[in-house]
Amino acid sequence: MSDIENAILSLRGESVELPLVHGTEGYSGIDISGISKLGHLSYDNGFQNTASCQSSITFIDGEKGILRHRGYDIVDLVENCSFIEVAYLIVNGYLPTREELAHFSRHLNEHSLIHEDMQHFFTGFPADAHPMAILASMVTSLSSFYSVGNELGDFVETAAKLISKVRTIAAFSYKKSLGEPVVYPRHDLSYCANFLNMMFSSPVRHYVIDPDVVKVLNKLLILHIDHEQNCSTTAVRLIASARGNLYASISAGICALWGPLHGGANQAVIEMLSRIKADGGDVRKYVQMAKDKKDGFRLMGFGHAVYRNYDPRARVCRKMADDLLRKLNLNDPLLDIARELEEIALKDEYFVSRKLYPNIDFYTGILYRAMGIPTNMLTVMFALGRLPGWIAQWKEFYDNEKAKITRPRQIYTGQKHRPFVNIDKR
Ligand code: SDX
Repeated sequence: MSDIENAILSLRGESVELPLVHGTEGYSGIDISGISKLGHLSYDNGFQNTASCQSSITFIDGEKGILRHRGYDIVDLVENCSFIEVAYLIVNGYLPTREELAHFSRHLNEHSLIHEDMQHFFTGFPADAHPMAILASMVTSLSSFYSVGNELGDFVETAAKLISKVRTIAAFSYKKSLGEPVVYPRHDLSYCANFLNMMFSSPVRHYVIDPDVVKVLNKLLILHIDHEQNCSTTAVRLIASARGNLYASISAGICALWGPLHGGANQAVIEMLSRIKADGGDVRKYVQMAKDKKDGFRLMGFGHAVYRNYDPRARVCRKMADDLLRKLNLNDPLLDIARELEEIALKDEYFVSRKLYPNIDFYTGILYRAMGIPTNMLTVMFALGRLPGWIAQWKEFYDNEKAKITRPRQIYTGQKHRPFVNIDKR
């Protein structure tokens, strides 16, 4: 690569200059849009070495395990802010003043209900429908009840509307799965306290809102709030690139997040730990299985496409798990199994050589279980946290007038041209 601001790519005597694209920190990019002059495409399986956009929302240094949102370190945000404060930062690019935060909270309160006609959709789902299926459907349906097309108007209100309604949909879907009446949001409760109350109070059960649990829920949602161009955020941007509306884009993000290699991993971790417990707790047996390529088993909650170090979010969750279970006087055998798994894996050459560490999903399920949140709701919790990030990424795409429709190419590996054969001759 030349020392001027271009890379030069040469192939069979021909060459093309490819300009460098610099950011404020981290990797620079090589703009390969000129590569077709060589009669070739670039090829990057899973786009893991390809920057799909320029973004100012989140910075990750995978080698060092650094995560910052709008320049603030994740640990500073977790220790000093509420989820709604960081949601404002992510969407607007700066931390709110008290007045701005109060204004945002008022919008969240005003928009916390969903149209009563949407209640009918819940009854259409079987009781054991996965909450992510319900969430994706209900979020797309929001576009039938709420204005689409002028989302970019007062974007603070648009963001608050979606953040508030999705929380209500999540809690309602849980109540519907229990066959219990929904609990409506209360104007006197904060975002997280409201969610817990909607989830766990009922006409026959007085739910005491524990401020320590509210604090942990705020921290958990902040830890999930954005993560640059991960799979589900890429799905959101993909729909945005076709000029899809915000609700349709977020619904696509929810569907991508559901996958067990992505946000669905938090549910898969609890299922894995429960399987190990049911199998007598032989952790070493499962570490061996995870290393055996012939065995389809993977250590869920381990490894990452970007982090080659301990996921800074997992580090926070690891500590919070101890503190919360102690505070609630709970003893979860799955936490002991998780700790033993981590200890063995982090000393095992297979994991060390591949730089596989616990990721965000490894401990979060333990924390949500301690709050009483069921396993099949865990990825919904991930979506609740990630929602402000998706919203901000969608807006960033729309604000970029140079952004193009996403349309990757391919390397064709199918049949070459062949003559058609009539059905009677096949
Ligand atoms: C999230 O991208 C993001 O930012 C996502 C996320 C976010 O906040 O949005 O951080 C959230 O999705 C976290 C990841 C949750 N998924 C899991 O915990 C599922 C288990 N992990 C893996 O399946 C895997 O690590 C991925 C999917 C996370 C990353 O996959 P990569 O980068 O494509 O890695 P790879 O599959 O190429 O693995 C490299 C090597 C392979 O072995 P070799 O071919 O070199 O012999 O590591 C092995 C893999 O087999 N490997 C694992 C493993 N993860 C990778 N082996 C056993 N157990 C694992 N968990």
